[in-house]
Amino acid sequence: MTQQDDFKKALGNYPTGVTVVTTFDKENNPVGLTVNSFASVSLDPLLILWSIDKRAKSLSDFTYSKKFAVNILASDQDKLCFLFSSKEIDRFGQCEWKRSDDDLPILENVASVLECEKVQEIEAGDHIILIGQVYKVVNTDKAPLLYHKRNVGRIPKTFYQII
Ligand SMILES: Cc1cc2nc3c(=O)[nH]c(=O)nc-3n(C[C@H](O)[C@H](O)[C@H](O)COP(=O)(O)O)c2cc1C
Repeated sequence: MTQQDDFKKALGNYPTGVTVVTTFDKENNPVGLTVNSFASVSLDPLLILWSIDKRAKSLSDFTYSKKFAVNILASDQDKLCFLFSSKEIDRFGQCEWKRSDDDLPILENVASVLECEKVQEIEAGDHIILIGQVYKVVNTDKAPLLYHKRNVGRIPKTFYQII
């Protein structure tokens, strides 16, 4: 086992939610990709982060754009997780989305949406970390989609409240 294998195995022990991060490119076409590196950073101000692979096709769109939306997928949206991670496919032609008042592509029926102004870009190995300041939040009561070891699904029935 290499150190990279150990690293991957350890991260496999850390389930996450699933988001699709979106923006518009220079030609005003919607772009977006499936992201699970999303994390909360700060409450005051409201900051979040996610990281993008330097090899991603949409890298230059996200470094160009001054804002992005984090669409947190609902438990019945596993198809969107696959759609937005599949290559050579018309992603926005195969899902329902709308343009927000502040001009970002928003996926329909997601659990929550965070619209963000990009405030920082940090080079980190083979990824770039993007930090966003959240200026608009939309929430629903929908359950989230979970990701664990290349599987997606919903919160299991045996899930206990922390006392
Ligand atoms: C569950 C899941 C999580 C992912 N998380 C990330 C991520 O955090 N950052 C990233 O750059 N790619 C991530 N990816 C891979 C991208 O979604 C995928 O490479 C996508 O095709 C990139 O799109 P693009 O090349 O059109 O920009 C993830 C894929 C899956 C299935």
